[in-house]
Amino acid sequence: MKPEILLVEPMLDEIEARLDDAYVVRRLYDPAQKAAMGPALPGIRAAVTGGGTGLSNDYIDSLPALGIIAINGVGTDKVDLVKARGRNIDVTTTPGVLTDDVADTGITLMLAVFRHLVKGDNFVREGRWAKGEAFPLGTSPKGKRLGILGLGQIGRAMGRRAEAFGISVGYWNRSPQTDTGWTSYSTPTELAASSDILAICVAANAATQGIVNAEVLEALGPKGIVINVARGSVVDEDALLQALRDGTIAGAGLDVFVGEPRIREEFFTAPNTVLMPHQGSATRETRIAMGEIVLANLQAFFNGERPPNSVN
Ligand code: DGY
Repeated sequence: MKPEILLVEPMLDEIEARLDDAYVVRRLYDPAQKAAMGPALPGIRAAVTGGGTGLSNDYIDSLPALGIIAINGVGTDKVDLVKARGRNIDVTTTPGVLTDDVADTGITLMLAVFRHLVKGDNFVREGRWAKGEAFPLGTSPKGKRLGILGLGQIGRAMGRRAEAFGISVGYWNRSPQTDTGWTSYSTPTELAASSDILAICVAANAATQGIVNAEVLEALGPKGIVINVARGSVVDEDALLQALRDGTIAGAGLDVFVGEPRIREEFFTAPNTVLMPHQGSATRETRIAMGEIVLANLQAFFNGERPPNSVN
């Protein structure tokens, strides 16, 4: 008999087809299946979910046979790792394969803010170019300073890309990283004070919650922009919205938000701000590679082996 798994959010069709081949897949994202899920819960031994969605403690409590939470992503902030370990549940991620795409998203957002990409697209479509209206000059990345908050794989990949644009790189990281040649700063505020672009690449956890606060934004200054490809919770969104509205900073490119997808509506009218619906790793190529890792972690678990990408 095939083992039963819980699929919290959709994956690529071909990955879901392979899940269906190997398992009885209970789809929590399907409203009809969700409504009728109750009797199936005790038989479910694995849960597959996204990094931004995770699995609530209520669900963990309602799944007595759960042995693995396979995250389709690298963020573990939406899963209680200590609780999972206490229940002997492995939590796995998909490291490495999404690094480049998330870094690309950060650079895309930076250029989109600097060159008014979205505003320009609207300007052309609305016929304002044809009417001879003026369009604002952009900002050149060349010679600017990128401050990377959190120098993990994604931060490093963003730094390498930025150098190709003639941008100098500095960073703040909890533990010193000596192999890059980039300037290290001892606090997020010092980093921001020495940056034109503050790129948030740090993992979300209790220690990083709200560390991009009013003081950091003030230090970044009126020509500075914030790029966030990490998690909304790392930013004090009240402070960010205020800083955007009153010109404390020049703009922002944001892929992640608190409470997504139902984000604060003030973002819709925030000046010089480019918004993306949490698409950092969302390319077909990378979602296939991530799906392969999820499948491998599940297979190892059901073979009685330790999953290769367990993080807890
Ligand atoms: C991650 O890897 O956690 C991404 O944000 C996708 O959810």
